[in-house]
Amino acid sequence: MRLRGTFILGLALACASAAAQDPGGKPFAAGQIGKGAALYETHCQTCHGPRLANPEWAKDLRKFPREDHARFVDTVTYGVRNMPPWADVLEPDDIEALWAYVVAGEGKK
Ligand code: HEC
Repeated sequence: MRLRGTFILGLALACASAAAQDPGGKPFAAGQIGKGAALYETHCQTCHGPRLANPEWAKDLRKFPREDHARFVDTVTYGVRNMPPWADVLEPDDIEALWAYVVAGEGKK
């Protein structure tokens, strides 16, 4: 029960920070992209490719639509088909950091 409450709170926070990232909104916090890069290396690159490049068999995240923050959070949290869910592993903050890495870090180059 406690976990569930934390999760719902996390979702609310994720939504709040989504608003902050709308065009013209706050830039990503310092350190967020770096944190996302480390998380990506640990959890995502086996399928999505080192530094987002040449994904072996998962989707190319460099092509992920930049305006679709909600879809990113949903997919990463709950998974879809062969994409595993990460709700048990990652905190909402971690998913935000991954988003920062994908849209403003590696994915921007
Ligand atoms: C076991 C392999 C695997 C791992 C590990 C993995 N993914 Fe995926 N991911 C996939 C596959 C396969 C898909 C395509 C799912 C589909 O649409 O059928 C996918 C899809 C996605 C999508 C949706 C793309 C779209 O166009 O909607 C996002 C976002 C994503 N992954 C992010 C991540 C992140 C962030 C991590 C690390 C926390 C991660 N993935 C780890 C296999 C993986």
